[in-house]
Amino acid sequence: MRLSVKHLLGIKDLTKEDIELIFQTADNFKAVLSRPIKKVPTLRDTTIVNLFYENSTRTRISFELAEKRLGADTINFATSSSSVSKGEGLIDTVNNILSMKVDMVVMRHSASGAPHFLANHIQVPIINAGDGTNEHPTQALLDAYSIREKCQTLKGKKVAIIGDIMHSRVALSNIFCLQKLGAEVLVVGPPTLIPKHIESLGVQVTYDVREALQWCDVANVLRIQLERQNKPLFSSLREYALFYGVNKKLLDSLQKEIIIMHPGPINRGVEIDSDVADGPHSIILNQVENGVAIRMAVLYLLAGKTSAE
Ligand code: CP
Repeated sequence: MRLSVKHLLGIKDLTKEDIELIFQTADNFKAVLSRPIKKVPTLRDTTIVNLFYENSTRTRISFELAEKRLGADTINFATSSSSVSKGEGLIDTVNNILSMKVDMVVMRHSASGAPHFLANHIQVPIINAGDGTNEHPTQALLDAYSIREKCQTLKGKKVAIIGDIMHSRVALSNIFCLQKLGAEVLVVGPPTLIPKHIESLGVQVTYDVREALQWCDVANVLRIQLERQNKPLFSSLREYALFYGVNKKLLDSLQKEIIIMHPGPINRGVEIDSDVADGPHSIILNQVENGVAIRMAVLYLLAGKTSAE
C-alpha cells in the first residue's frame, strides 16, 4: 500500500484511505516503540534534514526521534546558526543541502505555502512540519490518532476546537482530518479570532465556550498565538481566560466527561487551567507520545517502503 501523495504538504491533499494507512502503519510502529529495543533499521541509508525556520519543541524532537527510531541519518538545521542569517534564500539553502545527497526534507516555516513552493523546485519528499497559519498535518494526524485510540473511531464524534482559530494551522489541519474521518467539528472563540466564512468548510461556529463544551465529546484547546497578531484582537489575556478559558469549575458544572486535548505549547491559566491540562480526562501527553509513531509512519510511507516490520 502506498500513499496517494509524494509529499505531505497538508491534510487537504490526503484521502481518507491515506489517513487510515498512516494510522495502521503507526499502530505497527507504536508496538515497536513499546519493545525494550525501540529501533528498526527500516530507513537505514536514508538521510533526512530537519529544516526549522521557526521555533519548535515537540515537532522537532518528535521528528528527530522518529527518524532515529527508523535508523535514518538526521541533520538538524536551525536558521539562527546557518547562512540564512547572511541572506541565503530557501531554494539555495535546500539545493545546497540536497547536493550532499539528502533523501527527505522536514520543514517548518513561518510563511504559509513555503513547503508547497519548495515542492515545485526539488525532487525529494517534503514533509510540512507547520507552515505559517496554513497547515500542520502531522499534528492533525496525531490528534485524530489519539482520539481514535481513546474512542475506537472518529465516525460520529463531536470535536470542539476552542480558541484562536484565525491564526491556527492546527485548527485547519484538524478540520480537514476530522471531517475526512467522519467526525463533526465545531469551532469556538471570540468573534475576532474566528475567520469569516469558516462555515464554508462545513464546521459549526459558536462564540459561547459553555455551549461548545455541552455539545462535544472532545475539546481541542488551542494556544492564543500572540506572535501572529499584529494588533490586539481581544482586550486582555485575563479577560480571555475569564470568557474562553477551559477550567475545572466550568467542566464540573456540565456534569459530563469530555476528552481534553491541546497541541502545545500550553499557556497555563490562559486558554486552559492546570487542573484540566493535567486532569484525568486530559490526553495531552498521549498526543505527544503518539506523535513519534505517526511521524515514523509518515516518514516510512513517503520513503516508499512496503512493510513496517
Ligand atoms: N504542537 C507543536 O507544533 O508544538 P511545537 O511548536 O513545540 O513544535
